[in-house]
Amino acid sequence: MTATPKRTVLLALDASPAARYALDYFLETSYRPDKDHLVLMSVADDAQTSIGVFEDMIAVPGDDDQRKELEAQIAKDTLAIVQEAERIVLQKYEKAQVSSETYAVKSDEPRDAIVDTAADLHARLIVMGSRGNGALKRALLGSVSDYVVHNAPCPVLIVHQQDEKEEKEE
Ligand SMILES: Nc1ncnc2c1ncn2[C@@H]1O[C@H](COP(=O)(O)OP(=O)(O)OP(=O)(O)O)[C@@H](O)[C@H]1O
Ligand SMILES: [Mg+2]
Repeated sequence: MTATPKRTVLLALDASPAARYALDYFLETSYRPDKDHLVLMSVADDAQTSIGVFEDMIAVPGDDDQRKELEAQIAKDTLAIVQEAERIVLQKYEKAQVSSETYAVKSDEPRDAIVDTAADLHARLIVMGSRGNGALKRALLGSVSDYVVHNAPCPVLIVHQQDEKEEKEE
């Protein structure tokens, strides 16, 4: 008897509380440890480095070391996001039950990296927050979630986190 292939679920995570909320929501409502394979993915944005380089260039023109240091820090932060997510899953479920892998990658287009990875891995579901760490608070969806929902090769679960404080302020 051949085992049924697992459902690959790609969780797209940045450092925002919205992404963490999406992970928690998925685990509580849809996760089936025996049937799902989790891909915990975070993409380091190349733009983050360019901004840093720009700032560095004002202070110390042409300092490559600072750029490298910044890149290393971003890589570390990105890895920390997916490792923390995996830790959260493993805290809730027995290690032997969980099938997961972590992807901490770098791309100048995080949204394409998410869509392409979902296609490459034949993901059957993408899970993400509606907002992230970006500044455009008034839009319903951030640019990454908006792009992914329109271009993904599979269904996308966008978890909207109601921010009471923000609602009152508007
Ligand atoms: N770099 C990333 N890597 C992985 N997932 C991401 C990344 N950026 C965003 N996401 C996912 O997309 C969700 C929505 O974030 P998005 O970036 O679209 O909104 P935003 O940050 O508020 O707006 P914007 O980035 O357009 O300023 C996040 O909750 C997270 O699940
Ligand atoms: Mg964002």
